[in-house]
Amino acid sequence: MNTTTPRHAAILLAKASITGASEREMAQLAQRTQAALGERFSTVVHAFNEQGSPSLREALDLLTAQKADDITIVPLLLPMEPGFRTWITGAVQRWRRGAQGALPAVHLSTPPEDSLAIDALVQGLLQQTPATVDAPAAALPAGSAIPPQLRRVLVCQGGPCNHAGAAQVWGHLRNEQKRLDLRNAGAGMMSARTSCLGPCNLGPVVQVFPEGTWYGGVDAAGVDRIIAAHLLGGEIVADLAYAPQPGKQTLR
Ligand code: FES
Repeated sequence: MNTTTPRHAAILLAKASITGASEREMAQLAQRTQAALGERFSTVVHAFNEQGSPSLREALDLLTAQKADDITIVPLLLPMEPGFRTWITGAVQRWRRGAQGALPAVHLSTPPEDSLAIDALVQGLLQQTPATVDAPAAALPAGSAIPPQLRRVLVCQGGPCNHAGAAQVWGHLRNEQKRLDLRNAGAGMMSARTSCLGPCNLGPVVQVFPEGTWYGGVDAAGVDRIIAAHLLGGEIVADLAYAPQPGKQTLR
C-alpha cells in the first residue's frame, strides 16, 4: 500500500461482553474480517458499547492515532434496535467534541435490508453436528435463595464510563470485596456491573443501595473511601456524591 492510498478502517461494534473469552472472540472476528477484506481496509478492530473493552471511544482514539482517513462503524446487533444507531451517533458526536487534532470521517454502516446474510449463518450452524444437552445426572434444586446482604453496589460499564476507567474500578471493587469479605461484613454487600446508568458525563459512575447514592468520577482510591465510609460505616462520601438535581451536572 503506498502512502497516498486512503487508510480505511472499520470497527465491529458489539453490544456487550461479560467475559474475557467473548472479548477474545470479538478480537478474532475482527482479525478474520480484516484478512477477508485484504488491502481494502488497513485496520479492522472490535469494540463494545457497554460492558467490555475496548469501548467505542477507545477504538476511535486508536484508529485516529493510527492515522485512519475514515472509519466505518459496523453495528453487530440482531435484531437491530433503532435506539442503538441513535446511541452510536451520539457517542461519535461526543467523541468528536472531546477529541483533539484532525479527526477522520466516521461512517455508520446500514444493516442489510434482507436477512440473506443471516440465512447463510443459520444454515452453516444447522449443518454442524450440534452438541446434545443431556438431562442432569441429579435433580436440579428447585427454587432460589434470597441473599441476606442489604447493600448493593452497581458499577456502570457503559461505553463512556468504561472509557473513563470503570473496568479498573470494577476490578478493584471486586478484589477488595473478596479481601475484606464485604459480603459478610456489616450489613453485607453484593456488587454488579450494569449497562449505562444515565449520568454518563460523571463517569465512572457507581451507585450504592439501599440509599441509591450516586458517586461520580470514582477511581480506585474512591472505591476505598466508599467501602470504608459508606459500606462499612454507613456514611455517604459527600465529595464524591452527586445529589439528583433538575439541571445537568459536571464532575467537580
Ligand atoms: S455510561 Fe455510565 S452512566 Fe452512562
